[in-house]
Amino acid sequence: MASSASRAVFRSLGPAAWSIRPAAASLKSRSTPLLRRGFATPTAEQPRIRLGSIAPNFTAKTTHGDINFHSFIDNSWAILFSHPADFTPVCTTELGAFAKLKDEFEKRGVKMIGLSANDLQSHDRWIEDINDISKTKLQFPIIADADRKVAWLYDMVDAQDLTNIDEKGIAFTIRSVFVIDPAKKVRLTMMYPASTGRNTSEVLRVIDSLQTGDKKGVTTPIDWQVGDDVIVPPTVSTPDAQKKFQDVREIRPYLRFTSGEMKALA
Ligand code: BEZ
Repeated sequence: MASSASRAVFRSLGPAAWSIRPAAASLKSRSTPLLRRGFATPTAEQPRIRLGSIAPNFTAKTTHGDINFHSFIDNSWAILFSHPADFTPVCTTELGAFAKLKDEFEKRGVKMIGLSANDLQSHDRWIEDINDISKTKLQFPIIADADRKVAWLYDMVDAQDLTNIDEKGIAFTIRSVFVIDPAKKVRLTMMYPASTGRNTSEVLRVIDSLQTGDKKGVTTPIDWQVGDDVIVPPTVSTPDAQKKFQDVREIRPYLRFTSGEMKALA
């Protein structure tokens, strides 16, 4: 039974949160095991998404029409970020911020796609609100994942159950970020709690690091930003690094920095 304090928290989430609850209740009250109906259950293992694995393909309805996820990615990078429900406050600020960064993602060749566990009608109304609140024009598709099939496939559902409703009646999950490369490999996963808004600068920073690493065969140190020195990875010997880069600074045999400026090919 929810305490009055938790009911107050729930009420403070507004109409969206209230609309989560009946859906969850109806899922819970069904007598047929969810697994047999094609939904995942708390007893079934959620697939695990590991770095380097191929991003699972799926078809879905989105605010831009039906998609096949791999065809959507095509030969680009992609970022998939998810939300447990429309009209949730933290998520609203996040989507507004991502929408404003369209040009930054485009510059890096990254296609953006959101997901929220509600239907298309609700998404369309939420997007209007996001645009109004954040003074932006959200232009990427948002997947309608009301049955949480994609959320399950991508290991976004929290430890509690498929419905994602905790004892206070609040959805506390489906807040993941995936960066996928043009070979459809998962290169980054991040999972955020409901209480903490994501950091768009960090997402762009990781994409910069991954793309720099792929291009130059380097890794990047703590708090790295574009233009900072990079690291010669352990798989490259110092003599080989010296042949490849204009400068190599050895702090320890296992820690070598370089500006990343390549030598001209002889
Ligand atoms: C949010 O503020 O975005 C949020 C609230 C409750 C559950 C999940 C997300």
